[in-house]
Amino acid sequence: MSAGRAGFFLSFEGIDGSGKSTQVRKLAEHLRARGLTVRLTREPGGSEGAEDIRKLVLEGDGDRWSPETEILLFTAARRDHMERVILPALAAGEVVICDRFADSTRMYQGLASAEMRGLVDQLHDLMIGREPDLTLLIDMDPETGLARALGRQGGEERFEARGIAWQRQMRAGFLDLAKAHPDRIRVVDGAGEIDQVAAEIAAVVDGALA
Ligand code: ADP
Ligand code: TYD
Repeated sequence: MSAGRAGFFLSFEGIDGSGKSTQVRKLAEHLRARGLTVRLTREPGGSEGAEDIRKLVLEGDGDRWSPETEILLFTAARRDHMERVILPALAAGEVVICDRFADSTRMYQGLASAEMRGLVDQLHDLMIGREPDLTLLIDMDPETGLARALGRQGGEERFEARGIAWQRQMRAGFLDLAKAHPDRIRVVDGAGEIDQVAAEIAAVVDGALA
């Protein structure tokens, strides 16, 4: 079975600690076992330049960048990632699995106000212009997600420090986005055991690839 010459572009979305990184790895294993060529990647980051930008946006004080500058940095990182990693892999017929993509910018930067959301959408149209073929939204309650996320090591606390109310707003925003794009975004319950969630995701993706 092959993904075809055009490849297949999958993204994972959800609040911090919802299990995206765990599940992208599980899905990559599943698809590789089926003989598919899989490119596992993430945002912000995924290419050399975009990983440099990741450090600029995720480390340091919360007010390090203005909201507008932050949107530009995320979009610049995504553009580099698209040019150098995602589009070449799709052109080679690979399945690209991206841990977060443009929906994260629509939520984390765009939910601040209608004006910010407008900026996010305009920059996306101008500089990115492509959506994933399928997006898996891992839904879970923010208390569990935040407890899991804070349990991890690392210096990328700038976003996670924003707390439960923030995560709750992001969760609701993601669910609204899924309702607005039912053909692209599939919601998966992230509260179960790792293997149980992985099996549900594998079934959805196998169906989409068939
Ligand atoms: P995300 O990438 O969405 O922030 P991770 O995959 O890094 O989430 O998961 C956050 C933490 O929760 C990790 O320590 C991971 O091992 C753990 N975890 C992930 N999925 C589950 C699950 N279904 N049940 C219990 N713990 C989980
Ligand atoms: P990530 O490493 O996926 O965090 P986690 O594993 O905790 O879910 O992403 C880091 C943070 O970057 C996360 O809090 C969401 C934020 N982010 C944005 O604010 N905008 C974006 O466009 C992206 C891709 C991520």
